[in-house]
Amino acid sequence: MRLPDDRLRRPERLAVIGAGYIGLPTAAGFADLGYEVVCADTNPTKLARLLAGQVDLHEPDLQDLVQHGLRTRRLSFCSSPAAAAREASIVFICVPTPQADDGSADLSYVEQVVAEICPLVRPGTIIVTRSTVPVGTAERLNAIIGRRDVHVASNPEFLREGSAVRDFFHPDRILIGASELIVRRRLGELYDVFGVPVIVTDIPTAELTKHAANAFLATRLSFVNAMANICEAAGADVHEMMKVVGLDPRIGPKFLAAGPGWGGSCLPKDTRALAYVARQLGEPFEQLESTVRSNEEQFDRVVRRLAEHLEGSVQGRRVAVWGLAFKAGTNDLRDSPSLAVCQRLVAAGADVCAFDPAVNQTAVADLGFTYAETSIGACFGAEALVVLTEWPEFAETDPSLVAAAMSGDVVFDTRNVLDINEWTSAGLRLVTVGRSSPDPMNNSAKANAA
Ligand code: UGA
Repeated sequence: MRLPDDRLRRPERLAVIGAGYIGLPTAAGFADLGYEVVCADTNPTKLARLLAGQVDLHEPDLQDLVQHGLRTRRLSFCSSPAAAAREASIVFICVPTPQADDGSADLSYVEQVVAEICPLVRPGTIIVTRSTVPVGTAERLNAIIGRRDVHVASNPEFLREGSAVRDFFHPDRILIGASELIVRRRLGELYDVFGVPVIVTDIPTAELTKHAANAFLATRLSFVNAMANICEAAGADVHEMMKVVGLDPRIGPKFLAAGPGWGGSCLPKDTRALAYVARQLGEPFEQLESTVRSNEEQFDRVVRRLAEHLEGSVQGRRVAVWGLAFKAGTNDLRDSPSLAVCQRLVAAGADVCAFDPAVNQTAVADLGFTYAETSIGACFGAEALVVLTEWPEFAETDPSLVAAAMSGDVVFDTRNVLDINEWTSAGLRLVTVGRSSPDPMNNSAKANAA
């Protein structure tokens, strides 16, 4: 994908502030399209590595894209947001918007960057929030900027961790929130190369839409997890159920996998931030508040069910954990359901030994559990194994090796990735989230075939 030749001859200068999960794919992606991109990050260690073409995020193809950008000189890095923004026509703000203690989004990084760059940017510059921000942010930024010749717009990203590069080049949709025609047109031009719907709205609608999308996804998952819990009580199978439910084109098949609870750097903080905004606006969002609460209960439930399979308590029991990242395909631990469960296990007195193929030991030092270098290594002497992240290699592991390493036989597959028949045939007691025991039809079909 490239810009048309006439635009490549005079590439526009873009600035991206923040080289994290949002900023780096954005910067490297636009550079690959042909723009001249300067990306600023104030973390000196990260910056030094980026200047050497090294990307520490576990993000497929991102390092290649960054290195290509550096080679072509379309992508450069610096430590100063002001220096990056000075010559740019469009500045993307991609700095973190973490959760504050009261659940609201902490905008201090965004506001700090905007305050720093606004006296220096050229007239006509468009300052775009790309990090997820609450409705009303653009208004606050306009007040900080205080210049009539600088525009503010919203262009929320919908990238998923683990497929950010793919999502950048193949988005489902592009959302632009802007009030002036010229801003709408110029931002629209950035994305016309993708050939996907570009939806232009006013700024509050764009800001709120990003929160709505993530809140909707979280609510969907909490619904699936609640159905899984009902399935357990009723002896039904949530996996089969959601296959059928997802065949309704109004619902669709994706994002229907039951699990230990949802997490990550976005869904938890965005649901809380939207609930906070709704309360502030005098429109409390009870349903969303309950979505958040039920997710916490789902973590508790994992520990409670495990205890039930260990004669009532995890105290003093050796428990192996497979998977620490908040989902497969990333090494991100932020608001990871796995860590939420591990912390509960440790607090309840379990002796936890964990393994994750992408997370390194130093990232989980001091959390009260030990770390193994291999999946089987984590299982030695364990009375139970809990699978908390859906890494494909876990499903491919030979269950007889696990059975030989463990001292007990309980395997709690909270991601429903293990083959029930195979694992029970290895003599292990497989506990699942919302699935029935080994499929009798499948067993009898196998028996008949033998
Ligand atoms: C999420 C959204 O999916 C993106 O659209 C959005 O752009 C991004 O947040 C953001 O705001 O930046 P991400 O945080 O990468 O993306 O994670 P997801 O893939 O949405 O997964 C979130 C959690 O839901 C994970 O814990 C995952 O394991 C869980 N999940 C997901 C399930 O339990 N079941 C599923 O079927 C899908």
